[in-house]
Amino acid sequence: MQDTALLFGLAAGVAALFLLPALRMRLELSKAKHPSLTGHARMARRIAALVPYYAYAEERIFSSDAAPAEVADRRRAGFAKLAELYRRRFAVSAALTTEAEGAISDLQFTSRYRVPFQYSRYVREHLKAGSFLRSSEGVTVTDLDGNRFYDLAGSYGVNLFGHDFYKACMAEGSARAADLGAVLGGYHPSVAYNARRLREISGLDEVSFHMSGTEAVMQAVRLARFHTRRTHLVRFCGAYHGWWEGVQPGIGNPIAQRETYTLKDMDEDSLRVLRRRRDIACVLVNPLQALHPNSAAPSDGSLVDSARSAHFDREAYAAWLRRLREVCTARGIVLIFDEVFVGFRIAPGGAQEYFGVRADMVTYGKTLGGGFPVGVVCGRAGLMRRFREDRPADVCLARGTFNSHPYVMAGMQAFLERAETSAIRALYDGLDELWNRRVRALNTRLDEAGLPVRVANLSSIWTVCYTRPSRYNWMLQYYLRAEGLALSWVGTGRLIFSLDYSEADFSAVCDRFVAAARAMERDGWWWSDPALSNRAIKRGILREMIAQRF
Ligand SMILES: Cc1ncc(COP(=O)(O)O)c(C=O)c1O
Repeated sequence: MQDTALLFGLAAGVAALFLLPALRMRLELSKAKHPSLTGHARMARRIAALVPYYAYAEERIFSSDAAPAEVADRRRAGFAKLAELYRRRFAVSAALTTEAEGAISDLQFTSRYRVPFQYSRYVREHLKAGSFLRSSEGVTVTDLDGNRFYDLAGSYGVNLFGHDFYKACMAEGSARAADLGAVLGGYHPSVAYNARRLREISGLDEVSFHMSGTEAVMQAVRLARFHTRRTHLVRFCGAYHGWWEGVQPGIGNPIAQRETYTLKDMDEDSLRVLRRRRDIACVLVNPLQALHPNSAAPSDGSLVDSARSAHFDREAYAAWLRRLREVCTARGIVLIFDEVFVGFRIAPGGAQEYFGVRADMVTYGKTLGGGFPVGVVCGRAGLMRRFREDRPADVCLARGTFNSHPYVMAGMQAFLERAETSAIRALYDGLDELWNRRVRALNTRLDEAGLPVRVANLSSIWTVCYTRPSRYNWMLQYYLRAEGLALSWVGTGRLIFSLDYSEADFSAVCDRFVAAARAMERDGWWWSDPALSNRAIKRGILREMIAQRF
């Protein structure tokens, strides 16, 4: 009996010896997850699958926050006026959008998710924005009806130096590549130029060319896994790195990702995980997250309350990157800066230069193609090699029919050459001061006008925040459009300026922005019960969902 107890105790001791460290690591991992749903990819997917669809009837559209009848009437009248303006002003663009929508899945998706789903059907029916454009010029775009808008959509970040700049790059690139045409496999000479310049810009040894930012990130992660012989990638909560499986473990991906850790941004708990775990191949950093750490890219489609917040602290983020760098170096983890968005936008040498921290690999894309589609990986030689000297059959494949396409490469060369000119270089002088000053100027005007809206920025990338609890902030995008400001489908979540905005252009944007917000205020959308809080709004919506489901 005693022997059995002894044996049992011994077995428990040995088991604890092996299990405790594993348990501790598991707990550390749990602690390093951000408490929000964004930080819990698996749970977020499960919960998303439970959310039932329901749409507000017309009455509820205007009073979903239990506004008094007088306010609801004002909203209804304002909406009707806006709908009439849209019908008149965007008739041709909207008609083609309606005709094409059935055949273009992307269009169906984006038009559906411009606003929270409860309101979407009604808004889609009455405020047809039109998704087609005819031309661009300076800082403006023109739709099929001839309406000219100040462009705050920024072509998803591609448009850094202004539309005319990219037209010139594409024209020059096309002319240079015309003799070679669409020959693939053999390189256009611009490939050699681009590789040389990108090595200088990134401070890294080798370069590979791809067709999109998504592919570039995919390749960087694959190489990190190949060389470290480890399985897991680390991404930070909320960060976007393209749309392939491993970097999108949460909502939007039908399959759970087992080899991805989503950790808290700017947090000691995450560093502890990096220090302890042996399965981490790489850490992906999207420096845009510095504007809203641990939150997903803001979109009006999920703007059900006013909890959206943003604040950029350059020093704090630089300090965080330095800590991250130290830990990655100590642990042999590949540090990848995903600069597909911010590369070239915040400094000529990108985030590495801007924050003063070197990465092992950097991905670029968007603006670098000079208007053509592209993705690039730059990395240390030892990480970029796709084979092993001592194991000839053990290779790391990366292909792509169109990578190094002559027109893209020649367009990139035109971009890189122009980026070196004194006129473009001068744009970086006092860049942050300029955009911070512009943000302050607009915020002062909004404040003076008593409007519950503020903007926050990382250089020329802006997001709109709301200071009074409201369910209706998403309406602002329609008022802004009516004032001649073009936004992308994520609405006020992301405004992207090109650096050719003059003071006069910017001042016109401010006038229109304030006018739009005033109109929205006048029409009653920001009426708010003083007792209402963002939390209460969320709780109310949760109750609706539960009632809908059961
Ligand atoms: C940081 C970052 N990485 C990757 C991507 C994906 O690039 P692409 O859309 O060219 O595939 C994006 C796109 O927005 C991005 O912002």
